[in-house]
Amino acid sequence: MEAVSGAALCPACAKPLLVRHDLSRLDGAALQEIWERRGCDQGMWRFREIMPLREGEEPVTLGEGATPLLPLRRPGAGGSCRSTSARGPDAGLDGLTLYVKDEGRNPTGSFKDRGLSAAVTRATLDGVTRFVIPSAGNAGVSLATYAGRAGLPARVYLPVDTPVQVERRTRAAGGEVRQVEGLITDCGAAARRYARRTGAFDVSTLREPYRIEGKKTMMLEIVQALGWRVPDAIVYPTGGGTGLIGSWKALAELEALGIATGSTRMYAVQADGCAPIVRAFREGRPEAEVWEEPETSAYGLRVPAALGDFLILRALTESGGGALAVTDEEARLAAAELGRAGISASIEGGATLAAARQLRKEGSLADGEAVVLFNTAHALVY
Ligand SMILES: Cc1ncc(COP(=O)(O)O)c(C=O)c1O
Repeated sequence: MEAVSGAALCPACAKPLLVRHDLSRLDGAALQEIWERRGCDQGMWRFREIMPLREGEEPVTLGEGATPLLPLRRPGAGGSCRSTSARGPDAGLDGLTLYVKDEGRNPTGSFKDRGLSAAVTRATLDGVTRFVIPSAGNAGVSLATYAGRAGLPARVYLPVDTPVQVERRTRAAGGEVRQVEGLITDCGAAARRYARRTGAFDVSTLREPYRIEGKKTMMLEIVQALGWRVPDAIVYPTGGGTGLIGSWKALAELEALGIATGSTRMYAVQADGCAPIVRAFREGRPEAEVWEEPETSAYGLRVPAALGDFLILRALTESGGGALAVTDEEARLAAAELGRAGISASIEGGATLAAARQLRKEGSLADGEAVVLFNTAHALVY
C-alpha cells in the first residue's frame, strides 16, 4: 500500500485518489487459503492484506462485514428460486439465481460501516484527531459511531429534511450535528469549510481513498461466498457510487492475484427523481451533468453530482452493464416485498429488486445467470 497521509484529491487533477496495493509482492493462492481459514470471525478485515492496514496495525472495528449472501426465494418455495408461478420477491425473475447481499446486518444498519471503519482506521493511524462528513444520513451515523470507537470527535452536516431518526442516532453516537438548508452538495461545501478551518479530516465520498477500500470488501465477500466465482451481474443503488467503484477495484485486484477471473456486468440503479448517472450513461457521456432539483425519498440516492461519476460510468461501460431508474413507489413496494421474505430492506435496497425486474423484462439478465442485489441498509435506518 502506498501511504497517502492527509489525503484529499489528486493535487494535479483534483480527481479522487485510489489506493494502489503492490499486488506483485503477494501470493494469490496463499492469500486465498488464509482468507478461507480466517472465516468470517474478523468481518471484512479478514482481507486485511489488501486493505489500508500495515503489518502489526489494528483496525478500528465493530465487527462490520461478513454479511450474508442470501438466495432470494418466495416464501415457501423450498430450495429453488426458479419457479415461474412465484408471487414473492422472485416474481418476474424466474430463471435467474438471485442473491441479496444483506448489508443491513452491519453495526449501524448500513454498508457505510465498511467504508468508515476503513477510513477512520487509516486516518487515526496516520495521526488524524477530528473528522467531518456531509451525509444523506447513513454515513453520518456510521462516522459518528466509528470516530466514537476511536475516541475522536466527528462533525456531521445533514440536509435539514433528513429524517429525524438519523439526526438522533448521529447525536446518540456522539456526533456533532449541523443541519444545512439545502442538499448533500451544500453539506459538502460546509464540511470542506469546517475541515479548512479546523484541520478535521474530511471523509466525504471519494475525497479520500480509504472508504472505497472498505466498500470493496462487499465484492470480495460475494466472490468468496460463491466459491471464488464472480457473479454474472450486480445491481447497485447508486448515489456517489462507492460500492460500484469498490466492486470494480475488488475484481481487478482478485484478477491480478489470480484468485478469480471472469467479468461481472454492473448495473447502477437510481431514483427517477435524481438520475444523473442514468442520463449520462444513456447519452454515452464519460461524465455526468448535475441533476437539477433532485427529488426522491431514497435519501442515499439523492446525490445530484458524484465526484466519481467518471469512474462509475467507466465501470458500467467496461463491465458491459448499464444504468436504469425506478420510481420511489416501485422501490418502496419492492422493499416491502423483501421485508415479507425475511430481508429487512431500505428503499434503496428495494430499488435493486425493482430494477432487476426491469432488466429481466428487457432481456439484460439471461437464463441461468447469478445476479446479486445490494440491500445497502436495514429498513429501520430511516
Ligand atoms: C442506504 C443507501 N444505499 C445506497 C447509497 C448510495 O451509495 P453510494 O454513495 O455508494 O452510491 C447510500 C448512500 O448514502 C445509502 O445510504
